Amino acid sequence: MIFEKIDRIRDFVREKKGQGKTVGFVPTMGYLHRGHAALAERARRECGTVVASIFVNPLQFGPREDYAEYPRDFDRDCRMLEECRVDALFHPPVEEMYPGGFCTHVEVEGLTGCLCGKSRPGHFRGVATVVTKLFNIVQPDRAYFGQKDAQQALVIKRMVEDLNMPVEIVTVPTVREEDGLAMSSRNVYLTPEQRAEAPVLYESLKEAARAVSGGERDARTLAGMVRERLSGLKGAGIDYVEIRSLPDLKEVERLDSPALLALAVRFGKTRLIDNIVLEV
Ligand code: PAJ
Repeated sequence: MIFEKIDRIRDFVREKKGQGKTVGFVPTMGYLHRGHAALAERARRECGTVVASIFVNPLQFGPREDYAEYPRDFDRDCRMLEECRVDALFHPPVEEMYPGGFCTHVEVEGLTGCLCGKSRPGHFRGVATVVTKLFNIVQPDRAYFGQKDAQQALVIKRMVEDLNMPVEIVTVPTVREEDGLAMSSRNVYLTPEQRAEAPVLYESLKEAARAVSGGERDARTLAGMVRERLSGLKGAGIDYVEIRSLPDLKEVERLDSPALLALAVRFGKTRLIDNIVLEV
């Protein structure tokens, strides 16, 4: 069932909750792939009712970012959600979410000044605001986020804790193509040459993880290894390669507990991100 209106999805959820069902929620921006499907499948296993949303949120795109070109294929998305046995899809038009006069935002400080927050000012404010709205509309018991966007998942967890939102955040492992490239709606922007080079991102992360297994603990050395590997890419520029503590994303010098190794690389206009948790 597809709902475009806030009141209608609310009625649907209220009825399901009345039947004693737990509600799982998978927020997305559409152009779905197996990464999104993994979230929906996990929700399906764990919840009585599964709601997904497709909403390309203008608030989280910078003025020079790809909001207008963000890939869309609604019919294919609907088929995929049906295959995952999602019960309801919330697909609001922009005016339903941001009517004239809208002026309230949610800012998660601290966690958002680094990594993607640094190169995309305002991005996490847009994400936190829309996710708050979606949580208030759907009122899920659990919501599912991908480890692919590790900082986003941490920001949402922090927000839910700080603002006492009654929802459990579940993080689902990154789903990858066979050659290791993390699935992303933006992979379609890559030229064949860029696509052929892109698996190096994950290879470089795994190389660092192997070095940690071999005893390397110096964060600068580990990040340097990744940078060196990425600098071999012809068409790509490094946005960041950083090692940060979990869950608060503080700078790390020596690894003495599990840490996040995260990177962002630009292939022309296309910005790809990936990460791995370095276990010690
Ligand atoms: P979107 O990029 O569509 O991603 C929706 C969800 O799918 C996010 O939780 C993301 O981490 C997850 N995901 C994407 N690729 C994945 C992969 N390869 N493996 C596992 N999970 C993956 O993230 C957003 O939309 C938006 O910021 C949103 C949260 C919907 C707010 O607008």
